[in-house]
Amino acid sequence: MAAVWVLLALTALVADYCLVSATSYKEGDKVLVYVNKVGPYFNPHETYHYYQLPVCRPNKIEHKRLSLGEVLDGDRMAESLYDITFRSNGSQELCKVNLSESDVELLRSAIEDLYYFEFVLDDIPVRGFIGHLEEGGFLPHTHKIFLWSHLHFNIEYNKDHVIYANVTTKDQLPVPLDGTAIPLEVTFTYSVKWIPTELGYEQRATRIRDDSFFPKNLEIHWLSIINSLVLVFLLIGFVVIIMTRVLKSDFARYNIEDEDDADDLDSDDNGWKIIRTDVFRFPPCKNLFCAILGVGSQFLALATGILLMALAGVFNVHRHGAINATAVILYAFTSNISGFVAASMYKKMGGDNWVWNINLTSALFAMPFFLVWAVINSVAWAYGTTRALPATTVILLMALWLFVGYPLTVFGGILGKNYGGSFDVPCRTKNIAREIPRVPWYRSAFVHCAIGGFLPFSAISVELYYIFATLWGREQYTLFGILFIVYGILLSVTACISIALTYFQLSAEDYRWWWRSMFSAGSTGVFVFLYALFYFLKRSNMSGLLQTLEFLGYTALTCYVFFLMLATVSFFASLKFVRYIYVNIKMD
Ligand SMILES: *[C@@H]1O[C@H](CO)[C@@H](O)[C@H](O)[C@H]1NC(C)=O
Ligand SMILES: *[C@@H]1O[C@H](CO)[C@@H](O)[C@H](O)[C@H]1NC(C)=O
Ligand SMILES: *[C@@H]1O[C@H](CO)[C@@H](O)[C@H](O)[C@H]1NC(C)=O
Repeated sequence: MAAVWVLLALTALVADYCLVSATSYKEGDKVLVYVNKVGPYFNPHETYHYYQLPVCRPNKIEHKRLSLGEVLDGDRMAESLYDITFRSNGSQELCKVNLSESDVELLRSAIEDLYYFEFVLDDIPVRGFIGHLEEGGFLPHTHKIFLWSHLHFNIEYNKDHVIYANVTTKDQLPVPLDGTAIPLEVTFTYSVKWIPTELGYEQRATRIRDDSFFPKNLEIHWLSIINSLVLVFLLIGFVVIIMTRVLKSDFARYNIEDEDDADDLDSDDNGWKIIRTDVFRFPPCKNLFCAILGVGSQFLALATGILLMALAGVFNVHRHGAINATAVILYAFTSNISGFVAASMYKKMGGDNWVWNINLTSALFAMPFFLVWAVINSVAWAYGTTRALPATTVILLMALWLFVGYPLTVFGGILGKNYGGSFDVPCRTKNIAREIPRVPWYRSAFVHCAIGGFLPFSAISVELYYIFATLWGREQYTLFGILFIVYGILLSVTACISIALTYFQLSAEDYRWWWRSMFSAGSTGVFVFLYALFYFLKRSNMSGLLQTLEFLGYTALTCYVFFLMLATVSFFASLKFVRYIYVNIKMD
């Protein structure tokens, strides 16, 4: 049973990449056109089935089998009535439709919301507006709505391959939808023009991307990207240099004082050395602490894997869905990482309730994700959009988690528990905890979190705009190389800042650095979320309950993932640092 599901999931994944092989046609072959979805132009994630509109449809609607990525992307392809023959120009009638009053109302409101449609012709998305809105003068104000009833297909071909296709609507006058007789009889027609081209099949992806229906307003500002990279490198260098100098003088001070002890006892009594008997005192809530590290490590592996795959050019560029599907499947298959890291840390810290720890680890991301998804999916379902996942996909995903994700977490957990080793520390921890002195405001946890979150955020802020425009707009992200560098930089900045902040905290004789190191860098997630709100309000035209919910819900989840990943990096960097400094001082 489980094996069958795994196989199905893998097939769906493979279908995302392998089925893009070239189709060749002969003169007289039928070129299939699938109708896909319609939706408001400015809401990329609110899409409906094309046949939800009163348009020409076959008597029996045949759906195309879709890959997981396409389903996740809201695609629902069905066969259309367009009868297009390879390399044959012509013009034909599609069908006649009698529009009732409610049909006309539906079309009018769709056109007012700037609905566009998407067809798929030989895997090429072909898009156009369903109607046209004419706003005339201020006084008297006129507001006219027209429906495009004629579609003109331009298809470029090279020998026996289709290279590019688009559709234009303006070749014939549209049908006015104001004050018409009911029922309104509309005759839908279409024409096809085959244009020979010299472009080869390999250039197809570029051709499709460059001549897309959606305007490309994404200019890559190389200067600002390079600028931010340079600043970040300087910052990292600066922190590293200062830290090494400060540490050097600390080591010198502590180790000399030890030799000619008793000379000046006072100066020995401050700084991070005196808390050496407390610094390795394990934090409260070990269970949650280790679960965060486990899931964080899993996401680090996942993100690295996806970026590497994108760099290798695995994904089909004109569809977003492939990346989502890969992420879902990789998430299930990397679950053993989270189980292993969480359980071995938990064992090292002396935890004994490992069953509870593994369950917490597997639920730490899956539960919030499930809740957010359930709310959004219910709303999408109530709206009747194609974003609501069909029952089969839901069952597939649940099975993937139940039969792959969860067992792998348990398996990793058992490995981690048995082979975790012990937490070797350079100094013994005393039974009685030292009192922690009060700190000035600029050394408080809040200020640490603000600094620790803001610096990594500013390192990626330039890139964030491009990422948001890709995820939540119509842009296609192609600069995976830069993204990979930025990802590396983000992790390095996080590690550096975390080490510096932990040093400050220990110097203030506060030994509770465990949780603090997590939150100080993990707070980057909060900054990313604030940026997302700004993007939503000022840089995008999304509207409506469904799109808003979808944006806020999934952005919050993304920021949570940011938190988990950066908290993990930050903690492990701090741990390494703390070990390093306490190994290097002489003990009494
Ligand atoms: C279709 O029409 C276009 C323009 O009228 C022409 O360039 C092209 O050669 C025609 N294609 C075929 C296969 O007849
Ligand atoms: C539409 O209605 C008219 C008259 O009401 C009728 O003559 C015509 O056949 C109908 N067309 C279709 C496609 O049903
Ligand atoms: C559609 O394709 C034709 C032929 O390739 C091209 O001339 C035309 O500019 C395209 N129209 C749009 C709106 O992209």
